[in-house]
Amino acid sequence: MAKKRILTGDRPTGKLHLGHYVGTLANRVLLQDEYDCLFIIADLHMLTTQPEKERVARVSEFVREIVLDYLAAGIDPERSTIFVQSAVPETAQLNLIFEMLVTVPRLERLPSLKDMARDAELEVMPFGLLGYPVLQAADILLPRAHLVPVGKDNEAHVEVTREIARRFNRLYGEVFPVPDVMLGEVPTLVGTDGQAKMSKSLGNAIFLSDDEETVRQKVFGMYTDPQRVRADIPGRVEGNPVFIYHDAFNPDVAEVDDLKERYRRGQVGDVEVKRKLARAINDFLEPMRARRAEYEGRPGMVDDVLIAGTRRVRGIAQETMCLVYEAMGLYGPQLLKAYPQPLNGSDMPALAYC
Ligand code: TRP
Repeated sequence: MAKKRILTGDRPTGKLHLGHYVGTLANRVLLQDEYDCLFIIADLHMLTTQPEKERVARVSEFVREIVLDYLAAGIDPERSTIFVQSAVPETAQLNLIFEMLVTVPRLERLPSLKDMARDAELEVMPFGLLGYPVLQAADILLPRAHLVPVGKDNEAHVEVTREIARRFNRLYGEVFPVPDVMLGEVPTLVGTDGQAKMSKSLGNAIFLSDDEETVRQKVFGMYTDPQRVRADIPGRVEGNPVFIYHDAFNPDVAEVDDLKERYRRGQVGDVEVKRKLARAINDFLEPMRARRAEYEGRPGMVDDVLIAGTRRVRGIAQETMCLVYEAMGLYGPQLLKAYPQPLNGSDMPALAYC
């Protein structure tokens, strides 16, 4: 039986951090054998808040960072497919069809879009940003994916995808699976400053590519229990970022339990708690650093991975668009199919692949 398919990915806005890891990357690495995994670098989504030419010019640099983060985290380019969204024009074709299957109020209700507009300091909502979840639905359904491992902030977008898939199938016939969302073990990781969410733009992130000393400094600067001004005052473990990270990244459960116990009783200093956390995070990142160094030493590797991935995805995408146009009975594609000669001397027949 053919494997079920995963599609998920990231915007090329910067390096990936520990929040990405526990939110979605860990699941991706884990499911590589069980699923046919496709990972999208969503540069068109980046345009929804950052359309400036200078920003676009830096995409290649960020794509490279993210691919190296993927490979370092343990995504195996032999088993998984990594590709660039803007190299798959069928995405735009499917996006346009999907725009007819969702209402404006449905999209306006999504808090994530308002948050993104606010973070980007946009006073009014761009049309494309309102359509962000629709474009995401096109990403997910173009390869007819079954499962979408994402962080908590993307959960509502996958719900929109499910609605669009159902609506398409009801109107035109069964083309799409209704994909399930899969949240990570820590769907939203707090920042080092105690803010709700680790985020590059908030400056409270530990990156997968941070070196040992940087990790140590970030951990020693972490927010803990603000009431606890001295080590002999009983402290709060629940909701304390330092212990949330211990739970997420320190595999030595006995050590973590002991630290919690002593923290609650006022019998351990922050320095010991943080020293042990820095060590745990560095141990966790060390194999990633080694893999990253190995891949960085192979020039051309990233481009090769992306070209192979993009070729494969385009084949799948064209297949899906044939199914979509066929199911809809849309006039243009049918006309072209009935008269399959090239449209001009050199051109391939349009929709020759159907
Ligand atoms: N919205 C994702 C983010 O927050 C990126 C993304 C684009 C995505 N298309 C996707 C995630 C499809 C999962 C599936 O960066």
